[in-house]
Amino acid sequence: MFVSLEGPDGVGKTTQAALLAERLRATGLEVVQCREPGGTGLGERVRAVLLDPEATMGDRAEALLFAAARAELTEAVIAPALARGAWVVCDRFIDSSLVYQGLARGLGLESIRAVSLFATGGVLPARTLVLHGVDRRDDEPDRMEAAGADFHARVAEGFLELAALEPDRVRLIDARGSVDEVAARIEQALEDLRP
Ligand code: TMP
Repeated sequence: MFVSLEGPDGVGKTTQAALLAERLRATGLEVVQCREPGGTGLGERVRAVLLDPEATMGDRAEALLFAAARAELTEAVIAPALARGAWVVCDRFIDSSLVYQGLARGLGLESIRAVSLFATGGVLPARTLVLHGVDRRDDEPDRMEAAGADFHARVAEGFLELAALEPDRVRLIDARGSVDEVAARIEQALEDLRP
């Protein structure tokens, strides 16, 4: 079973991804936890370039680098894990590209969807949890976080738009409140997928 956690920067999804993986493991399931971009030797190197505040690149190059990292992670880690019946919990996946590059950068949802599905060979999460409603960004922004308030407003809106387009797969999770309260909302949104 493949689950991704998504949302704007600083919404708390990395904490929740780790807690979800822990809860699933406690029930005896094999869980592979990963993050995007990253999770492979190549992916971590591409991540360093993409987030380097000193790096400059055009929007299309940026989109293709995210896609390259995703292709590697899917082939080397996610597809083999799914094939042996493990759960995969991924901190960001295709929807980050749809929102950040497709909507916020303005490259278009359909072209980014096509590039991303080419990268993953069609692999998509069974459920995507979009956390929203808070901003706990710290004060040392990486290249993406430094993209400006307008850009991040488009990102926040873009995730809501995406959830409305694919309500079955993409579920909105209110990220306000305590870590435990948010975790409980996540559990509820996965109830029908649990063994
Ligand atoms: P994070 O893993 O710390 O959230 O940082 C990843 C940053 O990269 C974050 O700002 C979102 C951005 N991003 C994209 O713009 N497109 C993508 O496809 C992915 C996976 C991340």
